[in-house]
Amino acid sequence: MRGVILAGGLGTRLDPMTRVTNKHLLPVYDRPMIYYPIQRMVEAGIDRILIVTGGNHAGDFLKLLGNGREFGLRHIDYTYQEGEGGIADALSLAEYFADGEPVCVLLGDNLFEHSLAPEVEAFRGQERGARILLKEVADPERFGVAELSEGRVVGIEEKPQNPATSYAVTGCYFYDADVFEIIRGLEPSERGELEITDVNNHYIRRGAMSYGLLSGWWTDAGTVASLYRAGRLVAGQGRAGTGPGASR
Ligand code: G1P
Repeated sequence: MRGVILAGGLGTRLDPMTRVTNKHLLPVYDRPMIYYPIQRMVEAGIDRILIVTGGNHAGDFLKLLGNGREFGLRHIDYTYQEGEGGIADALSLAEYFADGEPVCVLLGDNLFEHSLAPEVEAFRGQERGARILLKEVADPERFGVAELSEGRVVGIEEKPQNPATSYAVTGCYFYDADVFEIIRGLEPSERGELEITDVNNHYIRRGAMSYGLLSGWWTDAGTVASLYRAGRLVAGQGRAGTGPGASR
């Protein structure tokens, strides 16, 4: 399985912090945000990793990470997303890198308390289709929200005003090699982006989507409140409690 970390975007929700750097290079407690997804992948046994970045500060990733020696890697692949095409558009750039293998995709601004190794194993056993990770949160309207029925995900709604459940779709996704064909068939959403939620709904309609439920904490770090929360969670190793932007 190959790993893809999506670290593009303009990070406008973190302006002015993102005016002169990329969101994923901002500190979360004691290290740059991008360190967290890399560490989660490496400890889950994924050592072929592609970082997809974009915007004006892409060169800084290379300066910071090099070939990943600090993480025990021998090499890191990089690619560049032009424009603001969305998460699925960024993932489409990984097709040549995946080379027919299944992929584990992490959003570069997502932090997980626990190792993802059990999930990687679960998807290895699945062989075909896709797998997502869900987490019950207090503010599901900020995320993709999964509707469940009889132990299956039956649909995902992106940032719904009236969420059907409190299960957020986290930024850890597993796909077979069909994902790139699926992305080619997508139409841009109202905000002009290729949505990862549309990719996931495609697998759900095929009956090829499984899911895991996270027990540890999870947070994004793409807004001021969630960036602050991420720092507190890392510092307190999960004892940071509730507060602005809380998702437990
Ligand atoms: C993205 C996805 C959303 C998912 C979230 C996880 O949202 O579109 O479905 O729940 O990441 O962090 P974004 O933060 O890019 O708005």
